[in-house]
Amino acid sequence: MASLLLPATCSYGYLPLPLLLLLLLLLALGFTNEHFHVARAELERRHTVDVRSLLPNDVCSSIQDHNKGPITEPKLKLIHRHGPCSPLMHRQSAPSHNQILAEDQSRVNWLHRRTSAAARHSNKRRGPLTLDASMIPAHTGDSLGTGNYIVTVGFGTPKKDFSVIFDTGSDVTWIQCQPCVSYCYPQQDPLFDPAQSSTYANISCTSPYCSALDVSGCSASNCLYGVQYGDNSYTVGFFAQDTLTLTPADVIPKFKFGCGEKNRGLFGQAAGLLGLGRELVSLVSQTYQRYGGKFAYCLPSTSSSNGYLTFGEDYPTANVKFTPMLSNPSTPTFYYLNLVGISVAGQQLLILPSVFSTAGTIIDSGTVISRLPPDAYSALRSAFRKQMSAYKPAPALSILDTCYDLSGQSKVIIPTVALQFAGGTEMNLDVSGILYVASASQSCLAFAANGDPSDIAIIGNVQQRRFNVVYDVSKNVIGFGPGAC
Ligand SMILES: *[C@@H]1O[C@H](CO)[C@@H](O)[C@H](O)[C@H]1NC(C)=O
Repeated sequence: MASLLLPATCSYGYLPLPLLLLLLLLLALGFTNEHFHVARAELERRHTVDVRSLLPNDVCSSIQDHNKGPITEPKLKLIHRHGPCSPLMHRQSAPSHNQILAEDQSRVNWLHRRTSAAARHSNKRRGPLTLDASMIPAHTGDSLGTGNYIVTVGFGTPKKDFSVIFDTGSDVTWIQCQPCVSYCYPQQDPLFDPAQSSTYANISCTSPYCSALDVSGCSASNCLYGVQYGDNSYTVGFFAQDTLTLTPADVIPKFKFGCGEKNRGLFGQAAGLLGLGRELVSLVSQTYQRYGGKFAYCLPSTSSSNGYLTFGEDYPTANVKFTPMLSNPSTPTFYYLNLVGISVAGQQLLILPSVFSTAGTIIDSGTVISRLPPDAYSALRSAFRKQMSAYKPAPALSILDTCYDLSGQSKVIIPTVALQFAGGTEMNLDVSGILYVASASQSCLAFAANGDPSDIAIIGNVQQRRFNVVYDVSKNVIGFGPGAC
């Protein structure tokens, strides 16, 4: 047997294995391409868009919301924090695209540090945490980027409303609280005052919620929490409980959150953050009995319209396709999914499966631009450039290296881009998820490459635009339904 096998193995040995694999892959892909050509209409391979519709608008168009549903809207409004619909805009001018993208890179660096450090040791840290935040570097913040979308929720009794950042990439919900021991950043809403709420209580150091925190401490038997986001942004304070009012029908008693007395970073004018990660202290876990770990949202295509966030079964189910939600025990916060391929203009890109499986992929509402493994990005970029060859190239914009000057064009034709996930689920991206339009003369492919093939890939919020993104922790699935807002 062995002697019969040996010559055969040797004869294959003349072709180097990688070349052989490539040939096999080419064969397989040739077959799929043919399939795509037959199955897909020309319409599905290109978007024809009015350039003006891609440009940022100065006016909030929330008319759609008023036409839908009863007055006690069961959904929370998701609003881009730099756009004209944002309640935070009148005191703060919007950051430049370069700033937004630089902050986005800080967030990605933070996610990459967390996911790679987690492979070696746990991120948990307990001990001498004090309200003077001595563990944290004290120079002024130049980084953060905890996402661009905000929701307004109520804390305390009587309820006070706060506009907070919505974040699926972290767990602890927190708001700035009085007294701000030494410094809080300026915010739009008045600071939350625990003394004014009849339902507020401190959490004891012996509470399981206190030990579930990644960073915790103890002060006179009251639990302290700390969260550090980027190099220079953090929140530290008492871990407390109070009534959280999502909508008039969704009131969560004894919700555990951080009452931040020392907070620093570029949180804009937001009062804090709503943590929708997967650990015990997240809103999703705390409300598991009530909502079964189900929530859904839609991020609007522009900063001048609204999306929604909803908990429980109360989400649109039309055309939602699901893919498995995966977990990594060493980074339990994140929602992992299995990205397996990308197509441009209906044509499958040549990307070896190992390119995606090496580090895995997470979906994050706080990252703006999706990050791909270097090989996947370069395949996407060259296919996209080929399809866009009719347009004049424009200079790179920060991390975006494939830009076009579309000024003077009334209509542009751009290729479709689809992300493919395990189980045959596809995200055929909205135009607003393909092009990042800084201006008509600088419209860029809205993807970037990771620096290292072993860095985790991230599905960012630009690519999620207009999808009804459904999370179901009880069934371990994530779903996408197009054109939901
Ligand atoms: C919570 O703890 C802080 C610090 O010890 C204290 O000042 C405050 O009165 C406590 N609040 C309640 C409601 O117990």
